[in-house]
Amino acid sequence: MSSTVIRAQAKPVAESIDGEFYRDVISGLRQRQKQLSPKYFYDALGSHYFDQICQLDEYYPYRTELNLLPDVAADLNDYFADRGAEGLNVVEFGAGSLHKIKPLLDGVAAIRRFTAIDISGAHLHNACALLAEHYPSLEIQPIEGDFTKPLELAPSAATPMGFFPGSTIGNLNPTSAIHFLASARKTLGDGSYMVLGVDTKKDEQVLNRAYNDREGVTARFNKNILTRINRELGADFEPDNFDHSAWYNRERGRVEMHLCSRSEQSVRLGKENFQFRIGESIHTENSYKYHPEEFQQLAAEAGWQAEKWWLAEDNLFSVVLLGNQGQVELTP
Ligand SMILES: C[S@@+](CC[C@H](N)C(=O)[O-])C[C@H]1O[C@@H](n2cnc3c(N)ncnc32)[C@H](O)[C@@H]1O
Repeated sequence: MSSTVIRAQAKPVAESIDGEFYRDVISGLRQRQKQLSPKYFYDALGSHYFDQICQLDEYYPYRTELNLLPDVAADLNDYFADRGAEGLNVVEFGAGSLHKIKPLLDGVAAIRRFTAIDISGAHLHNACALLAEHYPSLEIQPIEGDFTKPLELAPSAATPMGFFPGSTIGNLNPTSAIHFLASARKTLGDGSYMVLGVDTKKDEQVLNRAYNDREGVTARFNKNILTRINRELGADFEPDNFDHSAWYNRERGRVEMHLCSRSEQSVRLGKENFQFRIGESIHTENSYKYHPEEFQQLAAEAGWQAEKWWLAEDNLFSVVLLGNQGQVELTP
């Protein structure tokens, strides 16, 4: 059987978000605490920087989750074999470079079809083409789009299983995370499952190091959002006039990432001028961390039941299987 890479029917992302990108940036910069959505980090260069972040010593989430996934896959294989699943359609939200799906493809025999959703279009299509070379009998469907928007899956007899690794769920605030999980449940349909990578609360030094690497890759990733706004929306940000800043906010249980103005300055976008005081920041990303029981509660509010947890050594990272039935199992 030959591989089938079905091209996305969605509009190219540049066309579909242009107006929205502009509106979002203007409205974010008008806030008292200026802010930008982290989804706008991911143009082609942003996706490339994210891949570099994943290779950093300090950035434990990537390798910890990747190391956990073969065990997850082995358990999922048994889980679905016990239930006589005929086939699985895995739908990955925010699929990136598709590194995390490989352990599942290697270990879960029931996977027949793979749908990869990402906002970073060119990066997604390249990653899907590479995956197709390695998994020639897998049906692969790239969908270039925003996973927070309603989505319709192609009809398939296989059981849908969402896949949301990388602790990307942590980039949504808890209310938006519940909203996303409820909408994913609707998209995936009755009898579906979802596997999520959820970063845990831990030693603050480990967290602060992970988002402040010595090589400055995370800083480049953060500032790239300003370069992108200049290029695509015609603003006149001077990215080097902003400092990357990231820290764990214990009260809110999240790492916050900001860009702090190095001077008093004014930035033009369209007809508007935005003033910055020295030290004033643009809040660019949150990365919420959850104890398993906190996340279980959040998923339950979206109608999902946690069926199985996998915890990495020292509880550094967790993976959870959500579904509609079953008992919670904690696997150390
Ligand atoms: C933290 S990275 C995780 C990548 C990959 N899943 C992993 O675990 O290594 C987040 C990914 O989600 C994508 N993304 C972020 N916001 C998105 C959105 N609203 N809709 C679709 N994709 C999004 C980014 O382009 C990026 O590939």
